[in-house]
Amino acid sequence: MAEPKKLFIKTYGCQMNVYDSERMAEAMGGQGYVTTDTPDDADMILLNTCHIREKAAEKVYSELGRFKPLKKAKPDLKIGVAGCVAQAEGAEIMARQPLVDLVVGPQSYHRLPQLEAEARKGRKALDTDFPEELKFDHLAKRPKARRAPTAFLTVQEGCDKFCAFCVVPYTRGAEVSRPVARVLEEARDLVERGVREITLLGQNVNAYHGDAEGGAWGLARLIRNLAEIDGLDRIRFTTSHPNDMEDDLIAAHGDCAKLMPYLHLPVQSGSDRILKAMNRKHTAAAYAELIARIRSARPDLLLSGDFIVGFPGETEEDFQDTLRLVEQVRYGQAYSFKYSPRPGTPAAEREAKMVPADVASDRLARLQALLNRQQMDHQQAMVGRTASVLFEKAGRMEGQLVGKSEYLQAVHVDAPESLIGQIARVEITEAGPNSLGGRLL
Ligand code: SAH
Ligand code: SF4
Ligand code: F3S
Repeated sequence: MAEPKKLFIKTYGCQMNVYDSERMAEAMGGQGYVTTDTPDDADMILLNTCHIREKAAEKVYSELGRFKPLKKAKPDLKIGVAGCVAQAEGAEIMARQPLVDLVVGPQSYHRLPQLEAEARKGRKALDTDFPEELKFDHLAKRPKARRAPTAFLTVQEGCDKFCAFCVVPYTRGAEVSRPVARVLEEARDLVERGVREITLLGQNVNAYHGDAEGGAWGLARLIRNLAEIDGLDRIRFTTSHPNDMEDDLIAAHGDCAKLMPYLHLPVQSGSDRILKAMNRKHTAAAYAELIARIRSARPDLLLSGDFIVGFPGETEEDFQDTLRLVEQVRYGQAYSFKYSPRPGTPAAEREAKMVPADVASDRLARLQALLNRQQMDHQQAMVGRTASVLFEKAGRMEGQLVGKSEYLQAVHVDAPESLIGQIARVEITEAGPNSLGGRLL
């Protein structure tokens, strides 16, 4: 048999890219590729890119530049760009960076093997279509190898929300849900291979409406059915939009034991004026009221959010509204960003209203200080409590394992390796900002 070719994939951006990279690696397995964790010995390099903020997108060009010597030493090396930058700027990348052999947009990954074959013939290959067929139905099946105890499973892609700042509706296209049968089949397969926790993914996952016999299912019904799979112990989902948080999904947080008490529900801003300018289509009060309803279904729910500061037109007053909402909600985790104008989005046209960079930086620092305090409070509140921890891998210290609590907190525990893939009761004894320590009960 021929020596396998080596594929190096570098992944940026969200979990959906992580999932896509796995699927691309599997598809390329059918073309005789195995993955490698360094670009140095690769026969093909694939950058799976993110376009969400300017910094993320610019990384692609600097990263590509670093591959120049590799390509010189090995002219046969094929370099590809996938993901959201490929979708947004594919043709431009090819023009600007002659060392790029292929460009493939997020909805065309099932065509990657053909594109690679084209590139092998010395032709440049570009595919940034939004094809009719669903890529996952046409991507090579996942091989039956044993897997880590946790896995992502993309159930929905694309976004119809068009928040004024966001590129996702342009890079990922319209909302599409995978059929229920496909999702259940993939989940069962993952569980057979050792997976005990599945995170359902979608840019707008709670807008899921997958075809099924007798009519489409929403996310709650999908989750309740997944919960019937023996051996699957934990279910999570991300990312959700507040306006799609329907009653049955809220109820599932209260009555579906396998659905973990953690919810990432971005609000972006606490100012109604800014929410309106962002086209988020809800008010701060409606969000707070929604959180209260979810918490009454599941009082110990740990809440996570995303925030943007310095959106065009944001005043100190608006920013204070954001701080107030954060005070009210008390997040256990959060991601916050300075607004970054993205080409083609409506907000990028509002140059006259741009918040000066130093003002935005100052607001970000103040918001992050508050969010960090809240995160630390939640971490500290765990001390003395019992958590259920799914062990994922060896920790940094000898004899230690690391796993996740039901609230998605990292927990380090002295435990035998045989517990990897198992869920154990752990008494939490110490808390740091980003991880907990505990002992097996
Ligand atoms: N679908 C998800 C978010 C996807 S993008 C949702 O609706 O919540 C992840 C986060 O990146 C967003 O929640 C937002 O906080 C941030 N983001 C998106 N576009 C941005 C921009 N132009 N500048 C700064 N942050 C941005
Ligand atoms: Fe972007 Fe808004 Fe869609 Fe989230 S809901 S992906 S922020 S447009
Ligand atoms: Fe980035 Fe695309 Fe995900 S822009 S955040 S990789 S959907």
